[in-house]
Amino acid sequence: MHEETHPLDDPATDPFEVAQTAAADIARLTGVAQHDIALTLGSGWGKAAELIGETTATLDATEVTGFSKPALAGHVGSIRSILTPDGKRVLVIGARTHYYEGHGVRRVVHSVRTAAATGAKIMVLTNGAGGIKTSWTPGQPVLISDHINLTADSPLEGATFIDLTDLYSSRLRELARTVDPTLDDGVYCQFRGPHYETPAEVQMAKTIGGHIVGMSTALEAIAARQAGMEILGFSLITNLAAGIQTTPLSHQEVLEAGREAEPVISDLLARVIGVL
Ligand code: HPA
Repeated sequence: MHEETHPLDDPATDPFEVAQTAAADIARLTGVAQHDIALTLGSGWGKAAELIGETTATLDATEVTGFSKPALAGHVGSIRSILTPDGKRVLVIGARTHYYEGHGVRRVVHSVRTAAATGAKIMVLTNGAGGIKTSWTPGQPVLISDHINLTADSPLEGATFIDLTDLYSSRLRELARTVDPTLDDGVYCQFRGPHYETPAEVQMAKTIGGHIVGMSTALEAIAARQAGMEILGFSLITNLAAGIQTTPLSHQEVLEAGREAEPVISDLLARVIGVL
């Protein structure tokens, strides 16, 4: 496919201005001037939006400045505006750009910066990931308590020193646990991917304090903090990480675990959004 020039690829472009333009596109196309909460749907979470409330507008991601089509099956490609029963406006982003696509970190965090520019104060980041804790089973959702960014990259440019303490808000995790007190949590390690980790890398992640391995979220969380948003992170454990489970990993397995878990995690996510 012919790759058109992308507004974020010129280093002279201000990524926050592009996000402002994208937010204006969303306001115009949805008819909703301000959103309260933004939600990024990772693999397995695709249907989770449906129970949150009434979808008042669905946009193709390509209609919004700076967004691209998702690279992969299992990712949705749409942006929706949802009205919850208690009157909150939720921006549901089904179009995540992954770091492994190689388009640079500005494109990865554009959705988060756009969400902030639409007015969202809370960023809910979800993903499908591998689990390191042997007490976990595929299909189980867990809260992200912190992260280890193994991409050696950052969405921050220049001398922008930002505190990342309590990045995954303990206040929001407590609220989530009012809905499901059994929710476990763990430290998310973002690897670059797109290959899955080697068993040795999983052991390294475990040794340095990680419990969840995946290919998204950490860079987005940093950008969300920079934008002043409060962050809630959920991982759907689609498989035990390489070497923890004895069978080889496959994208098919990840998708299937997501499909099977869908009804349960959709219900969970909708109820959690309801208490935020
Ligand atoms: N590792 C990295 N990313 C993933 C995994 C995994 O085991 N499962 C789903 N996404």
